[in-house]
Amino acid sequence: GSSVSDSKNLRVKLVLLGDSGVGKSCIVLRFVRGQFDPTSKVTVGASFLSQTVALQDSTTVKFEIWDTAGQERYAALAPLYYRGAAVAVVVYDITSPESFSKAQYWIKELQKHGSPDIVLALVGNKADLHENRSVPSQDAIDYAEKNGMFFIETSAKTADNINQLFEEIAKRLP
Ligand code: GTP
Ligand code: MG
Repeated sequence: GSSVSDSKNLRVKLVLLGDSGVGKSCIVLRFVRGQFDPTSKVTVGASFLSQTVALQDSTTVKFEIWDTAGQERYAALAPLYYRGAAVAVVVYDITSPESFSKAQYWIKELQKHGSPDIVLALVGNKADLHENRSVPSQDAIDYAEKNGMFFIETSAKTADNINQLFEEIAKRLP
C-alpha cells in the first residue's frame, strides 16, 4: 500500500476533495486544532497539515493531509494531490444536492486514476444543519455501499464525528 510502515507507526497520505464551501478546511482545522472558523476563507491551490492518531493497539497513524481547493478553477490540480494518496476523503454538504453530485464525480475520478488500493471515505458534512437537509442519509449510505466506501456524517462546527472519521479511516488501512 501507499502507507509507510515503521513497526507500529504508520505515515499516511490523505487527500480531501469536494466542492467549494462543503467544509473541507473546517474539518481539517477541527481535527488538527480543535477549532472552528465560521469565516473560513476559500482554499487557494491546496494546504497541508498533519496530525497523529493513536489507536487502541498502540499503533500510531500520522495523517499527512492535503486539503485541496474545491473551486472549479483548481480542478486540474487535483491529480497532483490524490496521486499516491493512501486515503481520499470526499466531502459534500448535506444541504447541497449539487455538492453530492460533485462528490460522486470525484469518486469516479479516484476509481479511474487513484491508487488501486486507495481507502475511500464519503463524508456528509454540516450535519448540524439537519433542518435544511436535502441529501437523505439513505442515498449516501446506498451509494457508499455500492462503491465499497466508508460513509459518515460530520459537523466541523459542533465537532460531531470528526475524530471518529479519522479513527475509522485508520482502522481500515491495508
Ligand atoms: P474550498 O476551500 O473553497 O474548497 O471550501 P471548503 O470545502 O474548504 O470550505 P470551508 O471549510 O472553508 O467552509 C466553508 C463554509 O462552511 C465556512 O463558512 C464554514 O464556516 C462553513 N462550515 C464548514 N463546516 C461546517 C459545518 O459543519 N457546519 C456549518 N453550519 N457550517 C460549516
Ligand atoms: Mg478549503
